[in-house]
Amino acid sequence: MARTPFVRIVEVGPRDGLQNIKETVPLEVKVELINRLNEAGTKCMEPTSIVSPKAIPQLRDSQALLSTPSVNNLIQRPNTRYPVLVPNLKGLEIAKRLGVKEVCVFISATEGFSQANINCTVAEGLQRAKEVIEHALRAGIAVRGAVSCIFSDPYDGPTDPAAVLHTVRSLLSYGCYEVLLGDTVGVGCPEDVRRLLSYLKEGGVDIEKLAGHFHDTYGQAVANSWAAYEFGIRTFDSAIAGLGGCPFAPGAKGNVATEDLVYSFHKAGIETGLDLSKLSATGEWISNILKRPNNSRAGQAIAQKNVSSKNTSGIPAKKLQWHFVERSPNLDILRSGVNVKIVLRRPQNGNALTSDMLTQLQSFVQKASSDQSISRIILTAEGKFFCTGMDLSDKVKASAEGQQEKKKSDHAMFTELFETISKAPQVTIAAINGPCYAGGIGLAFSCDIRIAVETASLTLSEVKLGLCPAIISEYLIREWGPSFTREAMLSARAISMTELKSIGAVHVLAKDVADLDSQLDNYLIDLRKAAPEASTLVKRVVSAGWSSPGGQIQRDTIKGVFEGMMKLGSESEVGLGAFRAKKSVDWDTLKENHSKPKL
Ligand code: HMG
Ligand code: MG
Repeated sequence: MARTPFVRIVEVGPRDGLQNIKETVPLEVKVELINRLNEAGTKCMEPTSIVSPKAIPQLRDSQALLSTPSVNNLIQRPNTRYPVLVPNLKGLEIAKRLGVKEVCVFISATEGFSQANINCTVAEGLQRAKEVIEHALRAGIAVRGAVSCIFSDPYDGPTDPAAVLHTVRSLLSYGCYEVLLGDTVGVGCPEDVRRLLSYLKEGGVDIEKLAGHFHDTYGQAVANSWAAYEFGIRTFDSAIAGLGGCPFAPGAKGNVATEDLVYSFHKAGIETGLDLSKLSATGEWISNILKRPNNSRAGQAIAQKNVSSKNTSGIPAKKLQWHFVERSPNLDILRSGVNVKIVLRRPQNGNALTSDMLTQLQSFVQKASSDQSISRIILTAEGKFFCTGMDLSDKVKASAEGQQEKKKSDHAMFTELFETISKAPQVTIAAINGPCYAGGIGLAFSCDIRIAVETASLTLSEVKLGLCPAIISEYLIREWGPSFTREAMLSARAISMTELKSIGAVHVLAKDVADLDSQLDNYLIDLRKAAPEASTLVKRVVSAGWSSPGGQIQRDTIKGVFEGMMKLGSESEVGLGAFRAKKSVDWDTLKENHSKPKL
């Protein structure tokens, strides 16, 4: 009987995936990542590197990681391969002491990257690798080899294939059981892969001793892996969620995403021994922890499908899966199905709004409001405060520098932003995680709905500074009523969320920030029963009723909305049809299946 074809995937997420991240990733996260990958069936993994902490600060905890019992236990297992990167004998000695069974020596085919990465020439790198290999093999430690820059070097440009042949042959002759071919800068395409592999084969290299290690800068990494598979390669490096990069290869993107590669192989009937669903969950988890977009398209799609299938079967998900879409210096954008969440991320300054943040917020809300695949826009924040309003230090500095005209544009920017939020056709929700002041209050109350941590309070402190909360007054009077607003503005007292809930201006209270997340998710799951276009119409009639009560505008709006909602092809056809059939509609799933997301 023919055996099912099999490929060996070497997970490089914990090493290549993390090594280029500037913010320190806590040791516990690294340990959990390795454990989760193991749970998903990973048997081969680069857990870390034992290198100069000056060269790769992120992996300075490698000894602590390798000594962590759960990781050390995995490394010791007879059926696992956990190659630890070592550049020299010093690294090998440490690895040996920690009970490492396998190391990986790494050199470049090219001079520029060799100097930048390991501070020596290619010849010196090969000599160092030879020493490490000899010592390791004598100590019973297996050695994998890595050759970088197989197609191009970030400093020297295109690579001479003869240099790749020379370095690969050398490492194999020194005793590496396998050598990975690293497209470090991720510029190669399938034709380059075929050409190089033919050349290496003609040069006497045993293709079975090679592994593919493709970075995805130009989006070719899955195709390159497939071309290498067709040429006979059976081992591939990849990183969960497409993490990865090297500080010495500027501009290079992550490794091919493990989920994408596994999806591709499984669809072709090729086994990997990995559980794609668990990998996808791990990819979403680590992307959220690292606050980075999940770079695996298959991973994102599978994670999303898992959430949707739970909901359509009638079991409400307790939590939505949020994945990162964009990150700018002070804003994060996350998405879950038809919901998009904007997170203010300037916690050290109470999320005070700088001119740049206002511009980014305006541009993002504008973009989201014209995106038909989005039904809800959520505004929330990280840290102790929701938003403390306009960044006054910015203003003082600007006026000291004589930028008087900027004041005018501040008025325009705030007015425009609140108006864009208020007029967005989507349902807008403020998830208030902490106290708000001044313009921050405007942000919360230009939204349609508010969910707030019960301990958060609002203070209209402007009068204390000789100012008036002018721009936001429009929204406060609309949401709080004139009498309540006047007193709150005149007294500049702290107003509690309980008080605002009692006047109907805050809709759900949460115990703390963790509860706020769950309350928000639950609220959004409940809103699946609300048709998106009907929700826009609701917003329109309420707005007309507020701005022109009993007037012509209100009457005309009601007439227009009534006629529009009964038209053939409108949502009511679907909603009423389902009602007659005694069914309910999940409007989120319907929208997801019928609209193309722009974000
Ligand atoms: P150097 O400065 O020439 O060497 O660096 P040194 O011997 O003078 O050491 C400098 C400092 O590092 C000293 O500390 C050493 O003790 C320490 P100080 O006295 O200044 O306090 N040191 C070490 N510490 C821990 N473990 C060690 C070690 N060795 C020295 N093993 C060196 C030369 C090679 C050490 C350095 O350049 C280095 O560590 N480079 C590693 C860079 C790296 O890890 N790059 C990423 C991996 S390669 C890659 O990503 C490509 C790949 O994915 C495939 C592909 O995509 O192509 C594999
Ligand atoms: Mg790499």
